[in-house]
Amino acid sequence: MNTLSQSQIVPRLKRAFARRIKPRKRSDAGLRVVRIGLLGFGRVGSAVVNTCRRARDAAARRGLRLDVRAVLVRNALGRPAPDPRTCLTADADEFFRQPIDVVVEALGGVEPAARLVETALRRGLPVVSANKALLGERGPRLFELAETLGVPLYCEASVVAGVPFLGDLRARPFAARVRRIVGVLNGTSNFILSRIERDALSLEAALADARRRGLAEPDSGRDLSGADAADKLALLLLHVGLAGVQPDAIERSGLTTLEPLDIAAAKRFGYAIRPLAFAEIDGTHVTAFVGPGLVPLSHALAHVENESNGVELRGPEIGTVFHSGPGAGPDVTAATILDDVIEIAAHPGWRRAAGAPAVRAAPGAGRRGPDHPLDRSERLQIDAPATAWFVRTRLAAHADVATLREVLNPQGVSLRATGSIMDQPGGRVLHALTHPCRRDRLERALAALHAATGGTNLALRCLEDRA
Ligand SMILES: NC(=O)c1ccc[n+]([C@@H]2O[C@H](COP(=O)([O-])OP(=O)(O)OC[C@H]3O[C@@H](n4cnc5c(N)ncnc54)[C@H](OP(=O)(O)O)[C@@H]3O)[C@@H](O)[C@H]2O)c1
Repeated sequence: MNTLSQSQIVPRLKRAFARRIKPRKRSDAGLRVVRIGLLGFGRVGSAVVNTCRRARDAAARRGLRLDVRAVLVRNALGRPAPDPRTCLTADADEFFRQPIDVVVEALGGVEPAARLVETALRRGLPVVSANKALLGERGPRLFELAETLGVPLYCEASVVAGVPFLGDLRARPFAARVRRIVGVLNGTSNFILSRIERDALSLEAALADARRRGLAEPDSGRDLSGADAADKLALLLLHVGLAGVQPDAIERSGLTTLEPLDIAAAKRFGYAIRPLAFAEIDGTHVTAFVGPGLVPLSHALAHVENESNGVELRGPEIGTVFHSGPGAGPDVTAATILDDVIEIAAHPGWRRAAGAPAVRAAPGAGRRGPDHPLDRSERLQIDAPATAWFVRTRLAAHADVATLREVLNPQGVSLRATGSIMDQPGGRVLHALTHPCRRDRLERALAALHAATGGTNLALRCLEDRA
């Protein structure tokens, strides 16, 4: 038997170890290069560049190499490009002069993103965007343009960034026959509610914690007001065939009036409070709302916690489908964006011939499918649903549950359940659940309650887990 001395073993071990940890030098020969033009080089844009580098194998397995060749930023002065071959510029004309095959839009906001996406599409460049503000507001126009030009416009990362399902809705008309959508679409709000629920933090303390963890922007107004969720709901509705729902037409309420005692009271009734986005579709009639609301503790959304997102889709053919996972985060968003890029590049004939006008993409790319016509805005009627309500009221010293009923019943609002009266520093507090009614009726009843008790009231929508 051959025995090795220590002086022989050590170098052999070192060589073997080095072989294991050193990545083999891979040849890129034979890979098709996809030249990406990146609009925006902030958190998501930087993650797109890093993911292209880090996860080369994922693209190589599809026979592709993803190269970021141009980057557009607001301020390019003294800023290094991610790679010596990449053009980093603040000049949109210079950006579009670069040899690029696909545009990734990671700017945020409506303008100039809308103008730049339109320019790209008109030049025959497929676009991938994660910008829900842009697509919520201008989606119908941009998708229509993409469809007319036959140029793909993908946006998988714009809603529940880490869970790909929009593409299925786009490509599969039966999957897209959705009649009810209930989701938790804003991770920042969900994190804040989870912190209030778990640790009885005030809204301000929970928001400060979200900021510390990088889960809330310095200006989180769009998250807390429900504007971000309304953009995403409009975009979801567009993917199930309703192109005319503007985010502003969706009833919206924010988190700001919520207190820890409300979350605890909802739990005693058997519900969790979540930042909900809801839509029910009946032909061309859509009822929708966005805002904190109650779902039964048995509902899947009650288990979507912290910054996670979830969405339940119901339809006559699909039954109930539930998706949940990370809703944001630069890395997961970049991964979903690049999956879209790879999917586009997999279509034969996707690449624009140099100098040629827009090339028609493969059938289905950028379209929603023949069985899935878009309902135009003029035919749509959008309003808010009649739901049960969870009401918190501050009672005067002499008032009790009977007082509450005496005030609400004549207004056409009947109570389904009441909690016990709690003595709080600001006065006595009572929570109750009503039978379903529309908002205007409830608001009249709350005004009467305010006149009778003088206290401030809170009302949140309450969803039942019906099929
Ligand atoms: N962050 C996430 O986890 C996440 C998740 C899903 C979707 N999204 C969406 O992804 C998009 C980008 O988000 P982000 O977090 O990466 O934003 P960000 O960090 O603020 O980055 C924005 C980038 O766009 C550039 N930009 C902004 N306005 C511009 C203009 N007028 N002209 C040229 N460049 C401009 C900025 O340039 P400068 O660098 O020069 O300022 C910056 O590089 C948004 O639509 C967001 O809603 C984000």
